[in-house]
Amino acid sequence: MADGNTLWHGRFTGGPSEALRALNDSLPFDQRMFREDIAGSRAHVRMLQAVGLLDDAELSEILDALNTVEGEMEQETFDWAESDEDIHTAVERRATELTPAAAKMHTGRSRNDQVANDVRLVAIGEIDSLKEVLASLIKALLNRAEEALEREIYLPGYTHLQRAQPVDLAHHLAAYCWMFLRDIDRLNDTRRRADVSVLGAGALAGSSLPIDPQMVADELGFSNLFANSLDAVSDRDFVADLLYSLSAVGVHMSRMGEELCLWASSEFDFIELDDAFSTGSSMMPQKKNPDIAELARGKAGRLIGNLTGFLTTQKGLPLTYNKDLQEDKEPLFDSCDTVRLTLLALTGMINTLRFNAESMQSSANSPYVAATDLADFLVERGVAFRQAHATIASLVRQSLADGTELFELVHAHDDLGPEAAELLQPGIGRNRRNSHGGSGAVAVAAQLNNLRELVDALP
Ligand code: ARG
Repeated sequence: MADGNTLWHGRFTGGPSEALRALNDSLPFDQRMFREDIAGSRAHVRMLQAVGLLDDAELSEILDALNTVEGEMEQETFDWAESDEDIHTAVERRATELTPAAAKMHTGRSRNDQVANDVRLVAIGEIDSLKEVLASLIKALLNRAEEALEREIYLPGYTHLQRAQPVDLAHHLAAYCWMFLRDIDRLNDTRRRADVSVLGAGALAGSSLPIDPQMVADELGFSNLFANSLDAVSDRDFVADLLYSLSAVGVHMSRMGEELCLWASSEFDFIELDDAFSTGSSMMPQKKNPDIAELARGKAGRLIGNLTGFLTTQKGLPLTYNKDLQEDKEPLFDSCDTVRLTLLALTGMINTLRFNAESMQSSANSPYVAATDLADFLVERGVAFRQAHATIASLVRQSLADGTELFELVHAHDDLGPEAAELLQPGIGRNRRNSHGGSGAVAVAAQLNNLRELVDALP
């Protein structure tokens, strides 16, 4: 039997077993919520005083005690006790040691509404901080896109990982900016649903005491107040929402990571990674490895695992609070930490890598990459697109079969000729697709202006 009295020992004759403590205690991972827990307690006791459940002296003694507890936790001088089951019990136990008045602190409150409120505050704080880290990556990508536009760098755009049409590097980098901007938008939605105060729901049914949950919500800066106490203590949808939003970030980082790995390979040779953002091999001296990009790809598995794991935890739960819900914290913390770490490393990698313009452009200069432009040339002269496609396809087939340069075949063709053959010159295709949102330099410049405005408005 472990020593120490738990908060709920009154009803029990013996103490909890070691095995129960080892499984049941959440302190090892929920102590990181101490600021949110103490903020919740401050708001709660102010409300208790306002409604007459605490007198002024009791309130000020409890607030002093909470300040001391917070200071000890910040300084890491807090003396954790054997009986501290979770962060809520630890704070209350220590506050009560400091002042007997703290024995009234849990009036009209349960750990069920308390923990749900704490996790909401954590989620909101994490969202605000992760949005900033995401914004840094978007800024890094946009800076590199603006540089690429100025340097007029282009590369082959791919479909099916086959060279398709020449695109501006700026256009390619900007595509990632839009993906990560959507992630910020998703986090904003998630934040809105997390921004609901649930303190005052009690264990599950509210309270017989004259508590004022709206005052607590206002004190803590929440925009909304729960409507149903049963839902309030059992709802963790906002955790699942956040895990999904972070999985979406993870999938985006993973896709970009895969592309960076390809680009850094000798086969592509499109980029060179800075030494500070790549690793070597312990055996093969020639290697420079894109570990950050690989981990960006690998971490997505863990983020998606956190999401599916937690959805599975929730799916069979009857109303209201069940201890299963304690499983919300580890995936939440892990996903936030994982996304933060990965975004920071990717941002450094993007800021410092070098583009190999020559290599990108020579891959894009393959005459076959201009095939669509040849078909469009015919279309502009009134040929139906299907017919134009067939004509160019047969020239490509012939060139591939007998090795005749496509340029010569086009040059000699009655409906094409020298003007069309010019389209096969290196770099010509780069600036042809200037339709809205297209990859031509004119359209890309407009797009980057638009992005710059959005990015500058980010907090
Ligand atoms: N550590 C618990 C959690 O994280 C706090 C709530 C405990 N509630 C209870 N009725 N045992 O969910």
